[in-house]
Amino acid sequence: MTNNTKVALVTGGTRGIGRAIVKELAANKSLVGECTVAFTYRSCDECAETLVKEIEDSGGKAVAFKTDAASFEQSKEVIDKIISEFGRLDFLINNAGITKDNLLLRMSEQDFDDVINTNLKSVFNYTKNSARQFIKQKYGRVINITSVVGIIGNAGQANYAASKSGIIGFTKSIAKELASRNINVNAIAPGFIQTEMTDKLTEDQTKSLLENIPLKRMGKPEDIAGVVSFLCSPLADYITGQVISVDGGMVM
Ligand SMILES: NC(=O)c1ccc[n+]([C@@H]2O[C@H](COP(=O)([O-])OP(=O)(O)OC[C@H]3O[C@@H](n4cnc5c(N)ncnc54)[C@H](OP(=O)(O)O)[C@@H]3O)[C@@H](O)[C@H]2O)c1
Repeated sequence: MTNNTKVALVTGGTRGIGRAIVKELAANKSLVGECTVAFTYRSCDECAETLVKEIEDSGGKAVAFKTDAASFEQSKEVIDKIISEFGRLDFLINNAGITKDNLLLRMSEQDFDDVINTNLKSVFNYTKNSARQFIKQKYGRVINITSVVGIIGNAGQANYAASKSGIIGFTKSIAKELASRNINVNAIAPGFIQTEMTDKLTEDQTKSLLENIPLKRMGKPEDIAGVVSFLCSPLADYITGQVISVDGGMVM
């Protein structure tokens, strides 16, 4: 690890969009240069081990933490370990997220709480527990993964939409609080991206979704990872408090 090596933390890094972000930042040839990447996950040990090995085999460095993003205590432990091991934290990418879809009349209180805690409270947990280090360094970049659904809503996803709209309000407020300390906070709003989360959609649902996407295709996880890399790079130093849609033109 050289003096210029950056340190990133990606929540929910083992699959889908998170995995693509981890790989992009750890590739050491992205817009951010050399970067050690820590990531969290909740259940799939094998996915985490394979990812760490893949990165190490290609000359990068990654560490995995098995932890529930909804737990404030566990998020503090993860951040403390990263800072004690690597001495700094440059980029926080709040990506962990789940869906538990249902129409309001059938949605249980548990499913509402689980989605809010995993998707929204986790963003508070990790941002709050990293903020002191960012302030000390006079440098930090926070990127929160929201969703097109947080902007336009979606029937059957009131819990998910509320969590994702909440992330947008949180992003703008914290961007205002931390801007004077050279800490930029932005959100990315993906449209429909090909991952296990969207594999749950039926053929009919996918067909009607494609009709509403001007670019006429679903996105790839790498489409999101590239924008994360840009937001972490010096090219984006003058961007804060923004929600960047990466959705094939769904919202314009
Ligand atoms: N796919 C899309 O079309 C789309 C669109 C808009 C926004 N998004 C957002 O993008 C993010 C990633 O979505 P995705 O499609 O890549 O999802 P995914 O394929 O289901 O992957 C989710 C990742 O989050 C981890 N995770 C879930 N719950 C967690 C928890 N409580 N603590 C720690 N890690 C947890 C999973 O780890 P385990 O495997 O260990 O559970 C997995 O690595 C989410 O915030 C999602 O809302 C996705």
